[in-house]
Formats: sequence, C-alpha cells, structure tokens
Amino acid sequence: MRKIYLFDTTLRDGEQTPGVNLNTQEKVEIALQLERVGIDRIEAGFPASSPGEVISVSAVSRAIKHASIVGLSRCREQDIDAAREALKEAADPTLHLFLATSPIHRKHKLRMEKHQVLETAEAAIRYARRFFDKIEFSPEDGGRTELDFLCEVVAMAVRAGASVVNIPDTVGYLTPMEYGNIFKVVKQTVPGIEKIQLSCHCHDDLGMATANSLAAVLNGADQVEGTFNGIGERAGNTALEEIALALETRQDFFQAKSGLHLIEIARTSRLVSRLTGILVPANKAIVGANAFSHESGIHQDGVLKEETTYEIISPLTIGLKDSKLVLGKLSGRHAFREKLIDLGYNLDEERVNVAFAKFKDLADKKKDVTDVDIRALIEEKLIPVPESYILDTFQVLCGNHSVPTATIRILTAEGSMIEEVAIGNGSVDAIYKAIDRAIGESVELQDYTIQSVTDGKDALGEVTVMLAQNGISVKGRGVSTDILEASARAYVDSINRLIDKRNTNDGAKYESVTLI
Ligand code: KIV
Ligand code: ZN
Repeated sequence: MRKIYLFDTTLRDGEQTPGVNLNTQEKVEIALQLERVGIDRIEAGFPASSPGEVISVSAVSRAIKHASIVGLSRCREQDIDAAREALKEAADPTLHLFLATSPIHRKHKLRMEKHQVLETAEAAIRYARRFFDKIEFSPEDGGRTELDFLCEVVAMAVRAGASVVNIPDTVGYLTPMEYGNIFKVVKQTVPGIEKIQLSCHCHDDLGMATANSLAAVLNGADQVEGTFNGIGERAGNTALEEIALALETRQDFFQAKSGLHLIEIARTSRLVSRLTGILVPANKAIVGANAFSHESGIHQDGVLKEETTYEIISPLTIGLKDSKLVLGKLSGRHAFREKLIDLGYNLDEERVNVAFAKFKDLADKKKDVTDVDIRALIEEKLIPVPESYILDTFQVLCGNHSVPTATIRILTAEGSMIEEVAIGNGSVDAIYKAIDRAIGESVELQDYTIQSVTDGKDALGEVTVMLAQNGISVKGRGVSTDILEASARAYVDSINRLIDKRNTNDGAKYESVTLI
C-alpha cells in the first residue's frame, strides 16, 4: 500500500484565514496536537514575514520531536536566512521555497520573463541547499502555468536539489481531471522525477480542493497539503481529515493510505476551531456536528437495524466517544478529575480547582453536565492569559419599552475596583459600552458570534468576540448559561488578550494542556 504523506499548513495558510491571529502558545498547542494526530510535516509559518513569526516558528521547532517542521520562504536570501534562524532547533527542518510561475503572475506580479523565474528559483534552491537537506519547492499558481513551462520548472528544481516539488492550485481554479493530468504529465516527462516526492496543494474556491487532491494522488502525488477543518486563505485549503478518511474508507479504490491516527481527528478539529475562533459548519464532512446524525425516519430506522445502511464511517473512528458517564450536582472532585483525564486534559492542580468550581456552579443550574459542557468550560480559557481585568458583577436593565442600561464592576490586577454605567442599543451593546468606559481602551468590535453548546433551555451559551486595536486583532471567548454573562466574559477576555499581545515576550516556555 502506498503511503501518502500529509503536510499540514493550518499554522501558515490556515492562519491566512481572515480574522485568524494565533499567538505562539496557541501555535505550539496546535502543533503538538498535529504531531499526535500523525501529521508528517507541519508548516509552522513564514519566518521572514515578521519578527513574531520567527519566534513562533522557533517555539514550534523546539516543541516538536518527530514531525518535520517546515518554514515558508520566498526565493530571497534574507527570507532563507530568517527561516534558518527560526528552524535551527527543529529536529527535522524543511525549507519551503516558492515563486510564482503562471503567465498572470509573471506579467503582473513579478514582472519577470520565464528565464528570470527559472534563474531566481534555481539560485534560491542552490543557496538554501548549503543549509538545508530538505527543500520543498512550489511554483505558485502552478495550476495555471503552461504545462511545458511547468515541467521545465520542476526539472530545474529536481536538478538544483529540491527533495519535494509541490504543484499548487493556488486559486482553486482547476477541475480534478485537469489537476490529475498535470501530475501524470510531470511524472511521465520530467527527467529524474523518481528521485523526489511530488506534492499537491489545493484551494477550495470552487469546492473542489479535496477532489483535486485525490485526483493528484491517483496520478502519482506522494504528499497532500492542507489544513484541519479546511481553513485557509479565501475559501480555504484541502481539509486533511477528508483526505485521511477518503483514503481509509476507499482503500479499495485508492490503494494508498495516510499515517494519520484517525481517532485523534475530532480532537484536532475541535482544538483548531477553538483556538482560531473559526466555527466548523454543521454539515462539514467528517467533523461537522451533523456529520453522523440521521434525521429522516427511514434513515434512523435503517441505522438502528444496521449502522452500515446509512453510515460509511463510524463516529468512533475519528474519536467521537459516545460517553454515557454524565456528571451532575452530586458528582465529586474525583469523578470530575477522572472525566478530565478521559477527555484528554492535562491540567495542573490550580486549573483543576478552577474548573471544578465552574463545574459545580454549572451543575447547580443544569441537571446533566455532559462531556461537551465540560469541554466548553475548560476550553473557554484553554490558553489562559494574564488577567489585567476581571469581570466581577454586571446588571442589565432592559425591556421592549426601556433603554438598555448596564452597570458593570471590574476588578483590576492591581486590586482596584471600577464601576461604570452605560446605555446602549441593546443589552450587549450597553454592557460593552460600560466595559469600555471602565477599562478605557479604545477597541473595535469586529465580530461577535453566539452558539449554544448543547440542546435545551438550560444549555451553555458560548460567545466568541473579535476585537481589534492598532492593527492587532484577537479573539476572546466566554461561556455561561446566561448569554449576557457569556458576552461580557468574552469581551473582557478579548481585552486581556489584546493587552497580553501588546506586552508579551512571545517566546515564553509553554506546557501543553492536552494529553497524548
Ligand atoms: O497556495 C499556494 O500557492 C501556496 C504556496 C505558498 C504553496 O500557499
Ligand atoms: Zn496555499
């Protein structure tokens, strides 16, 4: 059976999703989980793009022991040097060089002739070979590049010493037949192609990223690039969980498999969604909330009689446990701790105490506390930041004939107490205005989303808020059975994250909170 390598770019292309801005700790946490799920190569970032990126790629390089850590670089010596610096502690570093090759990019973006593209890329690969054993080269917009020129570029990369050549469909333009054909022709015509690995990298602009990647695999690609939950620039990248499950479920057809530990998929997807703040659509293949639910009576009847009637994948395969152990008001600390371990959390005593207090508080308001509730409580502050401000109390006066008025009391890290009152267009607006007055930060609310964590009137509400200030944007989260409280907590959390981002030494030592 052929092995298909999985190259994850959640931390690089995925971070290019509008509104996503991960800090170093969040990137390390995701990288650790990517290693647990069995990703072969983790693209940690683009070191030359900012000093913060060098710090986070270095932190990921230190934390990861088995997967290869990849740094992206333009075909410029300064970029390659920045990547060398960022990857110097990686156990298995790979440099990912790219240069656009399509006629549109050559003419309008690079203003280069074909021979200049070839010379620039070759010089960069040869320079990089002095420092890196493993180099991946990507002809950007390869999918829209003239096929004969693309073959020339691939041949140059092979001669110059690349170990992987990736052919990206940068703009998600191609159909599976066209994309597959590129791999077929490259394989058949480029001299020395057997010495390197071929990789595919697709974007989902026309909803064909997974199909295109699988077409590439059928035509000889050794590696698939993508992200978890399919996040990424514009419509996103190939969703790697879809590739892994397609190869697994249809091994008979593809005669190939990935090395992914499928049982870790649900957890990886959840972590990526929580930390990026990008919710997974309910109907998303494999990891959407509805991916394993059966609504129609005929389907339910079939599944009850025999699961395989309507279920081609078992939810257990991706680690969705059907836990029968529901905690409640009378559950003690021991049962709670066991549950945390069962759910895969590795919390220190202090965090267990905080989580247990939150759990008890919830159990007073909600009869059954499910795994999903407990995860929401823990993951409200999965990567905690120093709390410059703490929400102490709030009160809201509202009604369909009154002006919403919020009174808020905030405690500061220095121990002082600030109280403020504000009116607003709605209850949440009034709360946010009162917090703004109390804290005195000038922030822009860019996004606000609310969802219920479970079903029922007593369900926890989860609010995610995106705030921006001077070009920095952050996401904060708040969870409560009261949606106004969840809204207030999310806002204060975002402000704390904003302040932390301004102040941090982003290279801090970091310990994972999730278990193997
Ligand atoms: O989509 C693309 O072309 C890329 C390259 C940098 C590989 O992300
Ligand atoms: Zn891309």
